[in-house]
Amino acid sequence: MRKKVTIIGAGFVGSTCAHWIASKELADVVLVDIAEGIPQGKGLDLLEAGPIEGFDVNITGTNSYEETASSDVVILTSGAPRKPGMSREDLLAINADITAGNIEKVVKTSPNAHIIIVNNPMDTMAYLAYKVSGFPKNRVMGQGGILDCGRYRTFIAQEAGVSVEDVSAILMGGHGDEMVPLPRYTTIGGIPVTEFIPEDRLNAIVERTKKGGGEIVALLKTGSAYYAPAAATVQMVEAILKDKKRVVPVAAYLEGEYGVSGILFGVPVVLGAGGVEKILELPLTEAEKAGVAKSAALVKDSIAALPEKYRNL
Ligand code: 2OP
Repeated sequence: MRKKVTIIGAGFVGSTCAHWIASKELADVVLVDIAEGIPQGKGLDLLEAGPIEGFDVNITGTNSYEETASSDVVILTSGAPRKPGMSREDLLAINADITAGNIEKVVKTSPNAHIIIVNNPMDTMAYLAYKVSGFPKNRVMGQGGILDCGRYRTFIAQEAGVSVEDVSAILMGGHGDEMVPLPRYTTIGGIPVTEFIPEDRLNAIVERTKKGGGEIVALLKTGSAYYAPAAATVQMVEAILKDKKRVVPVAAYLEGEYGVSGILFGVPVVLGAGGVEKILELPLTEAEKAGVAKSAALVKDSIAALPEKYRNL
């Protein structure tokens, strides 16, 4: 039986996810969007790349949910992106209705799917998706940590003059400017990063990572990042569909881990066919714990700012 991934939102992030899922032959893809012709056109265009690139998956574009039925994974990318000067939180009210409406349809058409939330503010939208879907906590997750780690690993590799392939890192917290990179758990070829990069440069890299999404928004001026967000999302899809048991940071529903409860929050997890199969609890220093608590408080504030109808689901 072929695997099926539905991508809601055929914008830059959604279509780039489709591109990489197809090129890796992970699954058949259904692209959904309200804009007539866009998902159909992008889907057909990508399908026609198959004979040239040598991938063989089916790609469908649609404005309805019928074709999405029984998906293994559903990725939610639809929603307004940031413009320069906007925070992810500025998107809250617009994207809450979009998320809730789409998740209600996913529940009806793909009741056994894993849901990956990409739209912003991601942690809050992931919370909303978890509550609206009623799915078990292992099957609803948010993409943010792998992306943030990708940025962090890029900057570390540039600074140290080494291959990104050898930079291994983990990062925690909400997908916002108060995320918590963990240099103590960052290595290059198994060697602590502090052997390569002095503390002041490492601190500067941490600060750049925290604002990494905003850096791209400021450059693009008309939207936000999509290559790295899509790559991070597809890594999650691959981990689930191939049961890879990847150890990656994912926004997962917490019930007391790291002293945090009742929200989806970026933590290291084991990601496999069961979705979030295990949350890994790392020992943290007092300063790291304080960073995690601050970041969790911001996610809770964001949830509290949701329109009234979504606050007590
Ligand atoms: C980013 O960090 C869009 O939130 C996404 O680029």
